Amino acid sequence: MMKPQNSWIEKYGPWALITGASDGIGLEMARGVAERGLNVVLVSRNQSKLNELAQNIQAEFGVRTQVIATDLSEAAEVNRVIDLSQQFNIGLLIAAAGYGTSGEFIKIEVVSELNMLDVNCRASLALAHAFALRLAPRKRGGIILFSSLVAFQGVPFSANYAASKAYIQTLAEGLHIELKPHGIDVLAVAPGPVQTGFAARAGMQLGQAANPVDVARAALQALGRKSTVRPGLQAKLLMGSLAMLPRAARSAIMGQIMSTMTKRYR
Ligand SMILES: NC(=O)c1ccc[n+]([C@@H]2O[C@H](COP(=O)([O-])OP(=O)(O)OC[C@H]3O[C@@H](n4cnc5c(N)ncnc54)[C@H](OP(=O)(O)O)[C@@H]3O)[C@@H](O)[C@H]2O)c1
Repeated sequence: MMKPQNSWIEKYGPWALITGASDGIGLEMARGVAERGLNVVLVSRNQSKLNELAQNIQAEFGVRTQVIATDLSEAAEVNRVIDLSQQFNIGLLIAAAGYGTSGEFIKIEVVSELNMLDVNCRASLALAHAFALRLAPRKRGGIILFSSLVAFQGVPFSANYAASKAYIQTLAEGLHIELKPHGIDVLAVAPGPVQTGFAARAGMQLGQAANPVDVARAALQALGRKSTVRPGLQAKLLMGSLAMLPRAARSAIMGQIMSTMTKRYR
């Protein structure tokens, strides 16, 4: 087990707030920052999963924990998280809560697509803004936002999810430069497929997928060093092979890949 890292606690501590902490990548991000010595505020809808994680983290890493069970698709609930978190001295925001959708655009339900925008984009923006305001006077801190491999071109059969991640990618790239003079490190994490509960909720079938532990490790190592990290061999290979193509050709190829991945196609 890694020893608590004083440089991390000084730069990003003493508390971190992690959304999407009940599962997948967010859960591993929470474990990763706790291992580095930060206390953690764990946020998602599933209270019992968060409580279990909080107990495990306390026992394993000896840090303090707090749980906020909430639905981040509701604007009032996002404000409640912002208010409740004022009582902790939070130096690091990790906005990992998010989900995907897939299928033919003319067959999707627009209500659930709008809900996804609320979680993936609206909540991430509101939290990033609230924490940027808090961190800027301290002249230190970090904000980690979750983009995706799909963020870099249009993606047929997952067009709205890809667009939501393009929004996050662009937001993070801009904030990376803008917030640097305030001492705030901003990172976009853009993984390819990762083995989590994501695929089942998105109605996708993933082939080879990265391990969320490896994704979290790569993200935490990249904070303060890069504006974007693309964890996972698959993400690197696919991005490398698509990089030289025009954007329209990349979209067409991503559409072919996505049509084989989405269970709701046809
Ligand atoms: N897995 C992949 O292939 C992949 C690839 C690229 C990018 N990403 C991105 O990485 C991030 C994490 O995804 P993951 O793979 O870890 O998925 P996951 O295992 O399904 O975890 C998603 C997390 O988000 C939380 N969440 C979902 N809806 C929420 C809501 N309305 N309010 C509050 N919390 C909510 C879930 O908790 P509750 O259910 O308890 O609310 C869960 O903790 C997402 O932003 C995703 O878009 C994933």
